[in-house]
Amino acid sequence: MAAATSYSIQPKSISAQITHLQHQSNSQSSVTSLSFSSQLEPVSIKSLSAARQLHLQRVGAVVRAEVNSGAMEVDISLSPRVNSVKPSKTVAITDQATALVQAGVPVIRLAAGEPDFDTPAAIAEAGANAIREGYTRYTPNAGTLELRSAICHKLKEENGISYTPDQILVSNGAKQSIVQAVLAVCSPGDEVIIPAPFWVSYPEMARLADATPVIIPTSISDNFLLDPKVLESKLTEKSRLLILCSPSNPTGSVYPRKLLEEIAEIVARHPRLLVMSDEIYEHIIYAPATHTSFASLPGMWDRTLTVNGFSKAFAMTGWRLGYIAGPKHFVAACGKIQSQTTSGASSISQKGGVAALGLGYAGGEAVSVMVKAFRERRDFLVKSFGELDGVKISEPQGAFYLFLDFSSYYGSKIDGFGVIDGSESLCRYLLDEAQVALVPGDAFGDDTCIRISYAASLATLKAAVEKIKGALLSLKPAVLA
Ligand SMILES: Cc1ncc(COP(=O)(O)O)c(C=O)c1O
Repeated sequence: MAAATSYSIQPKSISAQITHLQHQSNSQSSVTSLSFSSQLEPVSIKSLSAARQLHLQRVGAVVRAEVNSGAMEVDISLSPRVNSVKPSKTVAITDQATALVQAGVPVIRLAAGEPDFDTPAAIAEAGANAIREGYTRYTPNAGTLELRSAICHKLKEENGISYTPDQILVSNGAKQSIVQAVLAVCSPGDEVIIPAPFWVSYPEMARLADATPVIIPTSISDNFLLDPKVLESKLTEKSRLLILCSPSNPTGSVYPRKLLEEIAEIVARHPRLLVMSDEIYEHIIYAPATHTSFASLPGMWDRTLTVNGFSKAFAMTGWRLGYIAGPKHFVAACGKIQSQTTSGASSISQKGGVAALGLGYAGGEAVSVMVKAFRERRDFLVKSFGELDGVKISEPQGAFYLFLDFSSYYGSKIDGFGVIDGSESLCRYLLDEAQVALVPGDAFGDDTCIRISYAASLATLKAAVEKIKGALLSLKPAVLA
């Protein structure tokens, strides 16, 4: 039978023997079993060694499969590019907390970066109408002209930056906009400058592009804002992309215009350096803080890629809609990647996007109601944690996160748990003891802190604070010990 060829591997007959070989370039003989390998013996790598010569950096793995004609080996190694990327910790913790809730554990989930509000009714209605009216086909790769024109209008009116529709690329979420831009502008070995604390995906996206993330730490005493002198000292001829995020995830910091101007002066002295300005939390900002678009600063338009989206301000995370605006040359390159991967964003979501931008300046009343609620929650949390010994706070000016320095609690030893030796173990302890899910700061490049998302009702936050305070009672901050 034709099916009895060497390619017809029966899943059942795969002998579950998986051998994980360390980097071939380091040692061809180092063999370790993956955790899901069961009782079977390691497979010889000899028969695959010739092919491997071509891929010395690859992490090799072999599975023995039984086919009708006998045993064969299948190379199941993954690309070094993928192996160099860490999975998102925020997604992992959110999934873990969800699994606990599903198992009946009453976990309070403050880990996710997603507004707890419903999408405003006018947007939802536009999406529903799109379906009813059969607006359900592919759109142009770059997004509908209707939506791109509305985005141009928004960027002009709200941000003071002029673009034409061919300088806009709509994608399936801002995450896609960002990774495409990194892939489009970075060459292998280029440096991507990322101030820490950073959104978890930036360094991994740089790695996906074979570029090197260069992390610049900031300090809570400077409200986690980048020091221009430190930036200048880190720039080299390899520096290709500086990523700025304001308002910031995870700190809620907002870059004042004056500081952005100083950064722009430095950027202007480096002809190879581009800037990606992630402005996705733009509307979630607390007066007197104001938002400045980096591309609006003198001389910066030509080298800035402005990223924005609908997920946060319009509570549209599941609609998957974001965009990038920039010089046509770069935006077209991003569009080329998109055309060969996902194609355009959902036609239904794009109708929702048009409705969102039609809500009025900065999202009008529908968005300001949410921002008001976020502000109330921020004020409550800042006050509550301000009363706690040994916690350092930088009051967030935007977004819906609080990034608290709990490092004075590190070193505490808990019976039956062990030592709290960093943000990860503190979050594990708080999940165990207080049943509150938070994200360790080390996921964002700062192990002294943990991130609390206040995309939850005030009542939920009050309960969480009580539980966290209760759990921390057993720990003593070093300052008081
Ligand atoms: C700073 C930042 N940028 C971009 C994104 C991506 O948003 P989306 O892909 O939902 O549009 C997020 C989402 O968490 C974010 O926090």
